[in-house]
Amino acid sequence: MKTQVAIVGAGPAGLLLGHSLRQAGIACIVVERTSQVRVESRIRAGILEATMTDLLARLGLDARLKVEGLPHDGLTLVNDGAVIPVDIVGSTGKHVTAYGQTEITRDLIDAAPAAGLDIVWEAGDVALHDVDSDHPSLTFTVDGVAQTIECDVIAGCDGFHGPSRAAIGGTYCDRAYPFGWLGVLADVAPCHHEVVYASHDRGFALASMRSPTRSRYYVQVGNDERVEDWSDDRFWDELETRLGPDIARGVTRGPSIEKSIAPLRSFVSEPMRRGRLFLAGDAAHIVPPTGAKGLNLAASDIVYLSEALIGWFARGDTAGVDGYSARALRRIWKTERFSWYLTSLMHRFPDAGPFERRMQHAELDYIATSAAAQASIAENYVGLPL
Ligand code: FAD
Ligand code: PHB
Repeated sequence: MKTQVAIVGAGPAGLLLGHSLRQAGIACIVVERTSQVRVESRIRAGILEATMTDLLARLGLDARLKVEGLPHDGLTLVNDGAVIPVDIVGSTGKHVTAYGQTEITRDLIDAAPAAGLDIVWEAGDVALHDVDSDHPSLTFTVDGVAQTIECDVIAGCDGFHGPSRAAIGGTYCDRAYPFGWLGVLADVAPCHHEVVYASHDRGFALASMRSPTRSRYYVQVGNDERVEDWSDDRFWDELETRLGPDIARGVTRGPSIEKSIAPLRSFVSEPMRRGRLFLAGDAAHIVPPTGAKGLNLAASDIVYLSEALIGWFARGDTAGVDGYSARALRRIWKTERFSWYLTSLMHRFPDAGPFERRMQHAELDYIATSAAAQASIAENYVGLPL
């Protein structure tokens, strides 16, 4: 097979890049390790910045998002039960949208045939070759049969565990947190009209949603905890305690339809380009989910990378590809900062003493009483400019 851009990974980054390039008439093929069913059923992020919704609109892939997405004008912080509303629209003029990553992935996959975007599912042993030359290639197997794609460029959109990052040979910056999030999905009405981030002496809790009838909740748990030890009742009790009485009053309990623990980490791999290989999304960076930024950062990488590749293929302009890594990393690092800040502010750290806890309280009290502090949170939460 021959194409212009071989894309490794059919997560949001790979699919968004594929659609962006196809819209500009550039040939590309997406090669995915797992099955379509598995990709479409992974439950992950849920809050979209305008960066993402604008990109989907430009691609003409926002028909369902416009109908089913829930616009949020603000977010809510809770400090040991005290509710702190943060107005996003008032200070930024923009809003965020609740719409699941699962739904975006489905929309992008459903639209692939009409866009002429080929996706190879269940590709084994994916390997990248000759990325320093003008003729890189990708090899893999399908049903045990060896395949090769010769291309001009490889886009590594294969997430945190894919092979692309290692092929860059860059340097890594990493922070692991001493806790994870236990997440529950339940078909019950959300407890609040916008996302709630709660700091409590017993640990962090988050209330989010996927639709008016489907809620997504999380509680902070230690890295040694197991899902099996968390019955639904134990989860709901802990969630309500941490959200505090004002928010907990709105909680409707119901059976969990998904329950899992995700570890928290901050990670950046630099640079994001080597020769004809470009990284985007989780392949290059991970943020703790506290700022709802992982999926949105994948979208901004793809805006930059698609502009760069279109400039190169359509006009022979190399400025975009040469500047891609530095341009993307500037926004990534600022988003890493916000995600780390909100994580540090809202969670209980096992090694923190009374002083650190008082600092968290003081900062949350400052935010509660400062329009400037709230505007700064809103500006970051809604997404920094591209
Ligand atoms: P991915 O979605 O990881 O997609 C990469 C794709 O590459 C996958 O389909 C994978 O199967 C494929 N792949 C891997 N290896 C190979 C290979 N060798 N060959 C071919 N294909 C390969 N973000 C939030 O903002 N909020 C959240 O609540 C949240 N929760 C999360 C929970 C979990 C468990 C995880 C893992 C992430 C979560 N995130 C969350 C982050 C967010 O989902 C990611 O930032 C987003 O999925 C990034 O998209 P991506 O396309 O870069 O990577
Ligand atoms: C979610 O809806 O899953 C969600 C919302 C906000 C976050 C993280 C996850 O910060």
